[in-house]
Amino acid sequence: MTKSSQDEHYDTKAVLGHYLFFEKRLSYNQSKSCASCHSPIFAFTDGYRKSVAANGENLLHNAPSLLNISQNRFFDWGNPSVTTLENQIKRPLYQTHPLEMGFDVQAEKLIAFFCQDSLYQSLYQSAFHKKADQCSVSDIEACIIAYIKTLNSNNSPYDMFLKGNQHALNASEQNGLKLFSSHQLKCNLCHIPPFFTSANLTNNLDSIYANIGLYHVMNQHGYPASDIGMGKITAKPQDNGKFKIPSLRNCMITAPYMHDGSVNTLIEVIDIYASGGRNVLNGDAKGDGRLHPNKHQHIQGFELSPSEKRDLILFLASLTDTSYLNDSHFRNPFDVK
Ligand code: HEC
Ligand code: HEC
Repeated sequence: MTKSSQDEHYDTKAVLGHYLFFEKRLSYNQSKSCASCHSPIFAFTDGYRKSVAANGENLLHNAPSLLNISQNRFFDWGNPSVTTLENQIKRPLYQTHPLEMGFDVQAEKLIAFFCQDSLYQSLYQSAFHKKADQCSVSDIEACIIAYIKTLNSNNSPYDMFLKGNQHALNASEQNGLKLFSSHQLKCNLCHIPPFFTSANLTNNLDSIYANIGLYHVMNQHGYPASDIGMGKITAKPQDNGKFKIPSLRNCMITAPYMHDGSVNTLIEVIDIYASGGRNVLNGDAKGDGRLHPNKHQHIQGFELSPSEKRDLILFLASLTDTSYLNDSHFRNPFDVK
């Protein structure tokens, strides 16, 4: 195996982290790497409604994109105590219920593979100026974090437009941007440009987490009891159904949507906002989310003509940047070239 050519532009810890991010031997049964659920081709998500862990079980949530993750102050969908990547990474590596990668089930064995592999020996030497047999679990964590912090993406047509190229967005896309930021739709008040979230801007939890009226299950705290969002952590009834406002960058390629992957397309997403929430007509989660008492005041519904709806979607599509795929630092280093 050879080192990827474009890795040389990055810090040595991030270079080692690049391999570790794609390393399936970091899971207890060698079946999953970080990239299994955060794949470059889906903007570092996985295309599943809810991610599938190393033991085949579903996790509670849809995998978020890791692009521009270095900007964020809050991580994961509904847990406001996860405010650093050092804290966040413990969940995929060590969490047991549900088990995700199961790294600590056999951490010693996992580190042993590392010490014996000539590629890792040389990458570790470059990053830490020590022999690989001195490698610790915290070195591994630090390198993966250094890697994901390099996953920046800011080459979308929208970015070109921001940089002053008036032609980067056509008339429809520009109209979509106007609608997105309009008094009627208010999308921009929660998905705040340029990262289209607020998790990078403030520490005020009320501005970072919101209930958008997806559920109203009777007698079950209003949201499906297995997953009530931020309320589970804060134990405050008014936080029930609140989830982190996700970035919309690359949302064209990160379907399905929402914390539980319960919305399939952007058209459906817009229809839900237009109705002021979602009325679930049957199944276990039956109930009218539009009537949830915690629904955010900005979710009031609106009307769009078919062409306005199209323009809004074209604008969301203009937030797509896949140019990072040209840089081998963003691709699987174990793929045969
Ligand atoms: C089995 C699938 C799976 C694996 C493997 C996995 N993740 Fe995730 N990741 C998820 C899911 C699902 C979430 C959302 C978690 C939640 O809110 O409950 C997530 C969330 C994250 C977040 C927070 C993103 C945000 O915007 O809030 C980061 C960072 C992250 N993962 C990094 C990693 C790293 C690094 C690894 C490898 C050590 C990894 N993940 C392995 C599925 C996975
Ligand atoms: C009150 C704040 C708020 C407003 C206003 C708002 N959103 Fe959201 N948006 C959220 C939250 C919170 C989620 C995640 C909800 C969940 O998973 O339970 C979300 C999720 C999304 C998603 C899914 C993203 C993903 O990766 O799963 C899209 C797309 C989206 N919003 C687009 C829009 C558009 C378009 C508008 C305007 C019509 C809008 N939002 C208005 C807070 C808001």
